[in-house]
Amino acid sequence: MNSKTAFAFKVSILSILLVNFRLSTAKKDCIKFNVSITQKIEHLGFHRDINWFIETENLDRKAWMNSSCSAALMLEVAPGMFVNPDQADDLRRLGKLDIFIDGTVDIEVPAHEAIKHTVYIYLNNSQLSTKLSVKLPIHLRYQRSLMGGHAKVPLNKPSLLIHCPHSNQIICGRDQKINAPVSSKDFETLWVWKNVTYKANFDEMELLVPIGNLEHYPYVATISCILGCVGCIYILSLLSNSE
Ligand SMILES: *[C@@H]1O[C@H](CO)[C@@H](O)[C@H](O)[C@H]1NC(C)=O
Ligand SMILES: *[C@@H]1O[C@H](CO)[C@@H](O)[C@H](O)[C@H]1NC(C)=O
Repeated sequence: MNSKTAFAFKVSILSILLVNFRLSTAKKDCIKFNVSITQKIEHLGFHRDINWFIETENLDRKAWMNSSCSAALMLEVAPGMFVNPDQADDLRRLGKLDIFIDGTVDIEVPAHEAIKHTVYIYLNNSQLSTKLSVKLPIHLRYQRSLMGGHAKVPLNKPSLLIHCPHSNQIICGRDQKINAPVSSKDFETLWVWKNVTYKANFDEMELLVPIGNLEHYPYVATISCILGCVGCIYILSLLSNSE
């Protein structure tokens, strides 16, 4: 009885020590990611560029470069806008952006007929360890409405994802897990990524887009046709009168 309780006591002490040891080593060894992101939008109208400036502070560069981890930005693109797949292919081919679009993008349809898609931009590890800027061209869709003026399209904040080959635990912090494609070349395979919290030096924003009055289009066409005919008849009548 006595030896049993003593044994149980020893086991519990040992396990407490073990857990503490594991916690302290995990804390000591993990790579701390202090990332801040600034976002700027260039141009007005239907074609914009989103610029993200990603800055890492006090990163253990050696540990990060040895880790073989991957980092990516993920943006959920609202139906009111789109990333053009042909343009994305060009950017990838020219080595400007390692980008993958998840979802089908119909560049023709207006906002109310469109569905959202997700864009992954895979980041360069070496550049991420200091500073990195990413430029993503986006296009706003035509809005159908009876009223003129401007519509507001929400621009989501990007998520910063990190995946490490053995375990995502080597990145400090308990962040949410997300399944996302491995890379732009192998998008069929999904990995578990860590959604890393970052300091956003910007607010969630809305882009203003002029409302193209598609409903009025048939009327405008009919009226210009009628005016054209009336004009022709008038000129013809002038000509025939002068003869
Ligand atoms: C990452 O960036 C560095 C420095 O700009 C460059 O030398 C390297 O080729 C880039 N790596 C990839 C995979 O593009
Ligand atoms: C990632 O985490 C942030 C909060 O840190 C959250 O706002 C965002 O929605 C998350 N991303 C996804 C895709 O769940």
